[in-house]
Formats: sequence, structure tokens, C-alpha cells
Amino acid sequence: AQAASALREERKKPLYQDAEYADLDWDNLGFGLTPADYMYVMKCSKDGEFTEGELSPYGNIQLSPSAGAIYEGTKAYRNENGKLLLFRPDQNAMRMKIGAERMLMPSPSVDQFVLAVKQTAFANKRWVPPSGKGSLYIRPLLMGSGPILGLGPAPEYTFIVYASPVGNYFKEGTAALNLYVEEEYVRAAPGGAGGVKSITNYAPVLKALSRAKSRGFSDVLYLDSVKKKYLEEASSCNVFVVKGRTISTPATNGTILEGVTRKSVMEIASDLGYKVVEKAVPVDELMDADEVFCTGTAVGVAPVGTITYQDKRTEYETGDESVCQKLRSALVSIQTGVTEDTKGWVTCL
Ligand code: COI
Repeated sequence: AQAASALREERKKPLYQDAEYADLDWDNLGFGLTPADYMYVMKCSKDGEFTEGELSPYGNIQLSPSAGAIYEGTKAYRNENGKLLLFRPDQNAMRMKIGAERMLMPSPSVDQFVLAVKQTAFANKRWVPPSGKGSLYIRPLLMGSGPILGLGPAPEYTFIVYASPVGNYFKEGTAALNLYVEEEYVRAAPGGAGGVKSITNYAPVLKALSRAKSRGFSDVLYLDSVKKKYLEEASSCNVFVVKGRTISTPATNGTILEGVTRKSVMEIASDLGYKVVEKAVPVDELMDADEVFCTGTAVGVAPVGTITYQDKRTEYETGDESVCQKLRSALVSIQTGVTEDTKGWVTCL
């Protein structure tokens, strides 16, 4: 009631204050934030048009929790008995911590993060799809929420966890993806923050991604920014190249996201007797590969059917007998409680 009455009073004020100067020490202005009375707000409609903007008193704005900053992604599954299973949320907690340090942000402790994820999953239990139908995608995020005008850490941060039931990430479903190797735009550069799961690594890929999608591709593969010779990752996931019993993936060196699924798949592949190599993977190795597949929390383990590089399209093996399918099925079985978790990856709620 107090807030509503304050708002009513605020609205009674004339739109413009008519004093010639605000009450301020004009001789001692620095670059601290001294909000002026009004701000102009105009929202963009879905069809891309900005209309009907208006002035309003300077103040906090409402922001959808789904507007990202540093963010994470983990999933809850339902096992056959209807119990909820979480997959390695501690790994996401640690990645947020490392990312936050790089961006000079404070972050929740691993225990705080995991507790928040567990509580969110449990409270939203009815949104976890039945076994085999999908999962509850849980998105923890960290954003600077306090006011600041200059360049520096924010005076306040907010940690949010929300959730949404999801099925397949790509419109292809579980069918093989068609990737395009991007040579104009790069995703990240050495010394930058490409290894951080920050929205600043996703916004810059949208142009290349939307161009590739309009040409019928599922996603874009980025090359290193220096020589444009080595594979980095796709817009939404990490990449693996299979030749015989050897599985190679680009080594993480600060420009590539250290995917939790990437790491888990590498371990499962070694357990299954494959030779797993993290290295600089030359783009030319794509021409000679048996299989290519992608990994990510959202994407899962997704087979790649074709890759187009410099106008040449290469096709890959896919299907039930593929290495990708074996790894996918081993991972999903652990995540959904079909096979016993001998690694301590799964938390049952
Ligand atoms: C995830 O895999 O969890 C991601 O955040 C990828 C994003 C493109 C949805």
C-alpha cells in the first residue's frame, strides 16, 4: 500500500520540473550515477518496430528473468519411478564461479548454487516431463542489477534460477544436423572471455547463425580467430570429430566453453575404450572424418550429417551403430537412471 501511494504521489507531479536547475553541487561533478528525473522507455514489438515510447520517472525497470547475463543450464529428468534426477549441478556451479571471477562478479558458493537448483527443480516438479519425453531445463543466472554509469563492477548482483520443460533443441529433432563452417565472423578471441558462459558470447553469433539458418543449416561451426584454421565450437554446443576409434575435440584454451556434457562424454568415451584427444583440431580433419557430433546441455549429444566448408559439403556416418549414438545412449541412460550411476553424477530428489 505504501508503494502504491508513493506511485500515486509521483504521478501527481508535473511532467517536467520547472526549476531551472536541479539541486546539485555543479562544481564537483564526477562520473558517479546521479539519475536525472526522467527516462524514456520504448519497447520493441515482436515484428521489430519500436513504437509508443514514453517518459517515466527514473526508477527500476521490470526485467524478465529470462533476460540473460552470466547464465548456466542444467536439466532435471524423471526416472521410471517418477523421481527427479539432477545431472552434475555442482559442475555448473563451479563454471559460474570461474566465469564470475573473470567478469569481476561475486557468485554464490557451490553449495548455495546446488541448493537453489534443487529447490527450484523440486518446487517445479509438475513441469518435469514424463520419463522419455524430455526434461526440465533449469537456468541459473547471475546479473549485475544495481545502478552504475561508469565502467566497474555493479553495486548489486542478483542470482536467479528458473526452469522450463524442454524437448529437442534443434527443429531437426534427433535427426542429423547440417553445419556450416563460418569464415567471416568469429566467436571469441584469445585473451577474451569465450570460455565464460556469458550472454556476451551468444549475442555476437546471432548474425552468422541467422544467416546460416536462412540457408537451411542447423548451426554454425566457428574457427579460431587468429589463423581461421582450427575448429572452436558451434553457436550452441561443443564439437567432436571421430576417425576410427579416435575421438578428437578442440582443447579448451579460454576461447571455448567447457561444456559439462563435453566433459561427461569424454569420460564415457574413454570408459568405452575410445582414444579421446583434446587438441587444436584443424578444420581440414573434417574432410576425412567418419563422424562428427555436437554436445551441450540443451543440445544433448547430436549427430552431424553434413558440414559445408568453402562450398564443399562432406557427409558423415550417423545412425544406430554410430559412435555418437553409443555415447548418447550411455549418457542418457545415466541421466535418466536407466543405468546405475557409478560416478556420483546424479542426484536423486
Ligand atoms: C546449454 O546448452 O545449456 C546452453 O545454454 C546453450 C544455449 C544455446 C541454449
